[in-house]
Amino acid sequence: MWQPPERIKHALPLAAWPTAEAAATARLFQPIALGPRTARTRTWIPAMVPWRATEDGFVTQDVIDWYCRFAEGKPGVLVVEATGIRDIPSGPLLRIGADRFAPGLAKLTAAVRAASGGETLLFIQLIDFLSIRRRPERAKFFARFLTITERHRAGLFALRGHGDASGLSDDDVRRELANLPDADLAGILSPRELDDLRYGARERVTDDAPHLRELPQVLPGLFADAAQRAMTAGFDGVELHFAHAYTMASFLSALNTRTDGYGGPREHRVRLPLEVVAAVRSRVGDRGVLGCRYLGDDVVEGGNRVDDAAWFGVELARAGLDFLSISKGGKFEDAKQPKVGWSAYPYTGPSGYECMPTIYSDERGPFARNTNLAGTIRAAVHAAGLTTPVVAAGGISTFAQAEAVLVGGEADLVASARQSLADPDWFRKMREGRGDQIRRCEFTNYCEALDQQHKQVTCKLWDREALDAPDVTLAADGKRRLVAPPDPSTR
Ligand SMILES: Cc1cc2nc3c(=O)[nH]c(=O)nc-3n(C[C@H](O)[C@H](O)[C@H](O)COP(=O)(O)O)c2cc1C
Ligand code: SF4
Repeated sequence: MWQPPERIKHALPLAAWPTAEAAATARLFQPIALGPRTARTRTWIPAMVPWRATEDGFVTQDVIDWYCRFAEGKPGVLVVEATGIRDIPSGPLLRIGADRFAPGLAKLTAAVRAASGGETLLFIQLIDFLSIRRRPERAKFFARFLTITERHRAGLFALRGHGDASGLSDDDVRRELANLPDADLAGILSPRELDDLRYGARERVTDDAPHLRELPQVLPGLFADAAQRAMTAGFDGVELHFAHAYTMASFLSALNTRTDGYGGPREHRVRLPLEVVAAVRSRVGDRGVLGCRYLGDDVVEGGNRVDDAAWFGVELARAGLDFLSISKGGKFEDAKQPKVGWSAYPYTGPSGYECMPTIYSDERGPFARNTNLAGTIRAAVHAAGLTTPVVAAGGISTFAQAEAVLVGGEADLVASARQSLADPDWFRKMREGRGDQIRRCEFTNYCEALDQQHKQVTCKLWDREALDAPDVTLAADGKRRLVAPPDPSTR
């Protein structure tokens, strides 16, 4: 993962945990209405992909165990990982793009409800993403993937400085291009072709292809169908994934230059998200909570900044969303070049760092690093006369940090992903005045590296513990447990 050049190693902030009495009156543990439901506390576990679904995207016992373990800590809200809304193969990522996925998801909601004693609202994050290929071998790219055009012939001719390349067959052109040094290729291939060679081909919402042109016609229905299935499966709500590197965030982004009324100025970029919200709401009604996660800052060059995000926040709140969950970065545009045979991963560049900051940071450090974005958006929403709850995330792992975000008015709920992975019981321990027993996340991103390699996600602080204890399920590598050990005080 990219790290800020300063590479200052930050110590974990001192944590003064509350007594049970202090926790009882703390803002963090007060209820809050989210549309038709009420979260019992303002604690939130945001979506985290654990790589535990079947190859066909179905819920497994490991998926159920993963979410039940979080539910035992009784967060106010628990969001199930990004779940694909299309009926297309996507490896072991959870799917909800057809009715056959609903029974497994219903089993999941029932198990989580039992594990939290009904104290946790369970949402599911609905995602659409475009296709991405692995970085090809150079020879294969020229032999199979590159479409040869006259521009390539002209480029070769210009490079030779003499002769006529027009008589070259496509195969000759492929061979000659494949033998050129990179510096010469840069003058012949288009920027997009170079990108496909260096990173693997990746679709953009701005591409001129029928299935991409049709996205605005297709996506509202796909999201609405998926949301309906989520309601049938017993979820308390859905979170529309409008963040990071995926389709809907790409529509919102200032990099979206579509000319069909769905790109360009902000009013056009927000059009499809608003149409998705309307379609989903018409199906969900007040049976469930409907919110979205989107970016307070794209971080990448030419992308959205917080003023765009604040403007979108007001539009999305006006559209009747029940919450706005704010993330940051996580884009393909600045991702590192993957190894041959691997896909680009949108959390490897500076924008990825901002999404999941580590202790190797700049002067600001990783802790509560992004709450200012949520604060700016919340202020804009309030200035527009709305009170839609805003969720902040990013390096929040102590009571004081969470409480300060709430008391300072930056957000209405506080999301913690990695700290909750490190210790799924941490909210409950805080409430019970047992903060000194909390296993504290070290923010070095071992878990995120597993995600990058599409391996089952675990935490380094507990995944080698008591591997031979009864009922322990091991990861595919046989070396790690898949869920955190039980909290001794509750067994
Ligand atoms: C393993 C892993 C998987 C993640 N998967 C998702 C996801 O499916 N959807 C999403 O919006 N964010 C995802 N995130 C980002 C987190 O929800 C969160 O925004 C980020 O980790 C920063 O919060 P934290 O500092 O509390 O960890 C993931 C993070 C991790 C570590
Ligand atoms: S693996 Fe590291 S960063 Fe991830 S949750 Fe555990 S301690 Fe935190």
